[in-house]
Amino acid sequence: MALTLVTGGTGHLGGDIVDRLVGAGRRVRVLARSPGVRGDVEWAAGDLATSAGLQDALLGVDTVIHAATFSPIARRGGVRPIDFFKSPSAVDVEGTERLLSLSGEAGVRHFLHVSIVGLDEATLPYARNKLAGERLVRGSALPWSVVRAMPFYYLLDRLLAGLGWLPAWPMPTARFNPVDTSDVADHVVACAFDGQRGERAEIGGPEDLDLVTLARHYQEARKMHRRICPIDVSEARARGMGLIVSSGVRGRLTWADWLKRRYPRAQPGEAERMLSGL
Ligand SMILES: NC(=O)c1ccc[n+]([C@@H]2O[C@H](COP(=O)([O-])OP(=O)(O)OC[C@H]3O[C@@H](n4cnc5c(N)ncnc54)[C@H](OP(=O)(O)O)[C@@H]3O)[C@@H](O)[C@H]2O)c1
Repeated sequence: MALTLVTGGTGHLGGDIVDRLVGAGRRVRVLARSPGVRGDVEWAAGDLATSAGLQDALLGVDTVIHAATFSPIARRGGVRPIDFFKSPSAVDVEGTERLLSLSGEAGVRHFLHVSIVGLDEATLPYARNKLAGERLVRGSALPWSVVRAMPFYYLLDRLLAGLGWLPAWPMPTARFNPVDTSDVADHVVACAFDGQRGERAEIGGPEDLDLVTLARHYQEARKMHRRICPIDVSEARARGMGLIVSSGVRGRLTWADWLKRRYPRAQPGEAERMLSGL
């Protein structure tokens, strides 16, 4: 049976992609620095930042779904001043370059790269790394696909949680349409096996909302209250922050429904108690 290698298969999107591949009866190998426990996939120990294990991980692979990334902002759930100046590129640029080259040697027939909507105008160093990685894929001799997605709900949840200590939240009013990883995974897996290649439809969530509204829904779901201060930003600034509306495919799960699943039994004061324990 054809073998699919998923990089980042232990991450938020990658985990959902692996679930769908396994559910469809496909043979899956997951590249991971620390192999996980699930027994329905093959595990390949490897590190994109050093190339360790990549050659072995690619043995016999037909399709690569590259969903690994290293984003300090997503990991810690907050933006720090350093993030405006630099972001490590070892995974997203050099790692992607090595993976492409070794995929070529291994005879991979489809290399699907997961990327981000609006990268061309985004200003953060992490976004510039992602754009550089994407350009390597587009320039490669391999049959490739690029799927761009809007920001994920889990990241929005983390970033808003990180603001919990602030009594007032400044929120840009520009609209965008974040999306759930479950919807992105459906689209990525469809693109991986539909026989097409190249630039694929981008995917975003079902609703175009501004951060004022998204933050309000968040506070309602967590039964917390902080003052929300709307901030008007220019269109250019909004685009630089990735606050744009995607074209292409729309996911189905709304932010409000995602929050209901994430915080099914939130009680008044609970968020405050959690935050005071931080
Ligand atoms: N988050 C968003 O809002 C968003 C929006 C649009 C597109 N995307 C894109 O979607 C993809 C998945 O994002 P995500 O947020 O789901 O990522 P994530 O949850 O942060 O997971 C990242 C994955 O990359 C792996 N990884 C990190 N460093 C590695 C290394 N040195 N070697 C091998 N694997 C390594 C991680 O493995 P470990 O378990 O070893 O750390 C993890 O499995 C990325 O391409 C991202 O750019 C994300």
